[in-house]
Amino acid sequence: MERILSGIKPTGQLTLGNYIGALKNFKAFQEQGECFIFIADLHALTLPIEPETLRTNSRDIAAFYLAAGLDPNKCNIFLQSHVSAHAELNAIMQNYLYMGELSRMTQFKDKSQKLNKEKIGLGLFAYPVLMASDIVLYDATIVPVGDDQIQHVELTRDLVKRFNNRYGDILIMPKAVVTKVGARIMSLSDPTKKMSKSDPKGDIFLKDDINVMRKKIMSAVTDSEAIVKFDRENKPGISNLLTIYASLKGISIEDAEKEFEGANYGTFKRAVADAVIAEIEPFQKRYFEYLNSGYVDEVLEKGAKRAREISNATLKRVHDAVGLL
Ligand code: AMP
Ligand code: TRP
Repeated sequence: MERILSGIKPTGQLTLGNYIGALKNFKAFQEQGECFIFIADLHALTLPIEPETLRTNSRDIAAFYLAAGLDPNKCNIFLQSHVSAHAELNAIMQNYLYMGELSRMTQFKDKSQKLNKEKIGLGLFAYPVLMASDIVLYDATIVPVGDDQIQHVELTRDLVKRFNNRYGDILIMPKAVVTKVGARIMSLSDPTKKMSKSDPKGDIFLKDDINVMRKKIMSAVTDSEAIVKFDRENKPGISNLLTIYASLKGISIEDAEKEFEGANYGTFKRAVADAVIAEIEPFQKRYFEYLNSGYVDEVLEKGAKRAREISNATLKRVHDAVGLL
């Protein structure tokens, strides 16, 4: 049986990119095996964040998981910080990943570039160690992620190989699974940049008012060619809108192109906005219901209980393997 594990870090407002690249896909995975979907709140501390923001975002993500159709009876939803095995395994695994390989991680290079060199937290550098610990703790075989996280899963695979070579078959080898359409949704105001929680003009936030969403899509940056065709290089704006449309409709990019043959950009954008709203409006409604119900805390508690069972067993295996009494 497969074990599925993934997480989102509560660092900012979730976007349509998170929805298409992550949230929307989780539901299908819970039919494939036991599912562990968590809120990576310890990871959120790797960059400065206000305590109140962290609290709000964490509860938001739990409610978003439920609104996206995750069923607490099939899928364990929990907070990373509620399961101490994450931090404990991290303390062990940091000895089996190397500073050279950590310094080559694209995410570290991107994020640290924007910081004063003297003030880069150790946690940001060691981010992939904690993420690898998250993954191996649950004997995860499948790790659904957006394409920006593939490198971290690959590093986890290197760790598993290294650890098992040294100690025998202790850890299970995970595999990253990336959705084909929608692995990378771009900003609507600069379609060469990823949509990523930080650009209010180019990002569609899942909590945005529906009318604001429509406005943002109608004013998305495109080009002057007036042909709806997929061409990431020369037509990044139109290609991004096609990706959003196709992934929400569950069709291929080619079929989406065909649908808009001869259409002008206004018509096309309106159709994209309609598709986004048709999906997100009921999703938002469910989110607000969950958030205001107290059900979220109950789900998180139940999820953490099961998560502790599984992760403590792995931790014990690792303790025994390395010689901790
Ligand atoms: P993050 O927001 O970086 O914590 O990412 C949470 C999940 O959403 C990860 O699986 C990401 O790969 C995915 N994700 C984030 N932004 C995007 C985007 N613009 N397009 C597609 N997937 C995304
Ligand atoms: N690093 C992931 C992200 O930014 C979040 C995450 C933390 C994660 N631990 C994980 C994803 C383990 C998958 C598996 O999106």
